[in-house]
Amino acid sequence: MSMSTAAEPAALPFHLSGNFAPVPDETDLEDLEVIGRLPGHLSGSYLRNGPNPRHGPTPHWFLGQGMLHAIRLDGGRARGYRNRWVDAPTTANTSIVRHAGRLLTLAETTAPVEVDAALRTRGRFDFGGGLTRGMTAHPKTCPLTGELRFFTYALEAPHLVYYRADADGVLQQAEPIAVGSPTYMHDFAITEHHSVFFDMPVLYRGWRDPEPIRWDPSYGARLGVLPRAGRGDEVRWFEVEPGSIGHTVNAWEDSSTIVLDVVRAAHPDAPTCLYRYELDLARGSVHERALDSRHVEFPRIDERRTGRCHRHAFALELGAFVNGAPTQTVLRRYELASGRSTAHDFGPGRVGGEAVFVPAGPDAGEGEGHLLMLVHDAARGASELLVLDATDLAAPPVASVRLPRRVPFGIHGQWFDGI
Ligand SMILES: [Fe+2]
Repeated sequence: MSMSTAAEPAALPFHLSGNFAPVPDETDLEDLEVIGRLPGHLSGSYLRNGPNPRHGPTPHWFLGQGMLHAIRLDGGRARGYRNRWVDAPTTANTSIVRHAGRLLTLAETTAPVEVDAALRTRGRFDFGGGLTRGMTAHPKTCPLTGELRFFTYALEAPHLVYYRADADGVLQQAEPIAVGSPTYMHDFAITEHHSVFFDMPVLYRGWRDPEPIRWDPSYGARLGVLPRAGRGDEVRWFEVEPGSIGHTVNAWEDSSTIVLDVVRAAHPDAPTCLYRYELDLARGSVHERALDSRHVEFPRIDERRTGRCHRHAFALELGAFVNGAPTQTVLRRYELASGRSTAHDFGPGRVGGEAVFVPAGPDAGEGEGHLLMLVHDAARGASELLVLDATDLAAPPVASVRLPRRVPFGIHGQWFDGI
């Protein structure tokens, strides 16, 4: 039999090909090459989570086992790179947060998994038995109280549960909230006195269902406002236009109005854009509008402003896609009062991921600091950690930490001082 008669391999889905393809190993590298000058205030680690299937192909990007990638910076040097699978039976592959001294890897319908600073998996974390369900990948730390607010959604009732843990990591509340159906609720928002939920017509059917989410505008669309420590039945619902909300930018209170910035699309297959809701708690009315028409995702802010008025947002503009994978991204800094933005172009063949903001110091003003993100360079077949001046995106990078290997495109990253 000649080779020419062999069956052609089936085309791989986007999440298993190109730079989405998983890496097969765990590595430790020391003293990485740095181009430019690393800012001296960066003493800690940039960590990034993402699906990295370990035991063969997965049917959906979201189902791959989580892998953490860590790049440690200190004293103006890039001390090392390490990658480790999150070694747990649950799928904690989406984000990583630190609360009360614990590093928690998160997905959204599955339980948190704690890891240590060396990325060793410590096991499932359940807040002393209080968390019997999953946990969103987007909990919010209130900068005023240090408390962590979060939620989960589930196929089984109650379909939505709100949680609040104090600064010491002790669970204070687990509040079921009545909704008409489980919906795909990837993110939520907090303000100083409220938490806000997105009950949109994107019905959730389970990640292992052939159709995990279903767009059904007949379900209606509502935003729910709950007092920070309120009971589940104290939610006030505001009817809004049907749509699909991706990630929260931030929310805050302007006297009796909650201003909520998100990325939103008209439906799940449409491009997401920066979008603002203004919920007037006194009148019970909503005003909503797009702030820009560009297709952006992965919005981030200076997180010292979480729940409080923010002037800037950073987001990734998604340009061309080929077979479901981005081939061009541009990082934008928005001035929200005007909607104007400035951009950083990563250059041809270079695709950047979500940017993480690190303030220049404890007294730095909002947005004064650096943006860190992984960039994949197709020509080199490798990745780098880019450091940009957050106040001047048009400028060349401040520094670049060049890895000798690639980091697959993943989901969310975070900077952690001191580890
Ligand atoms: Fe997310």
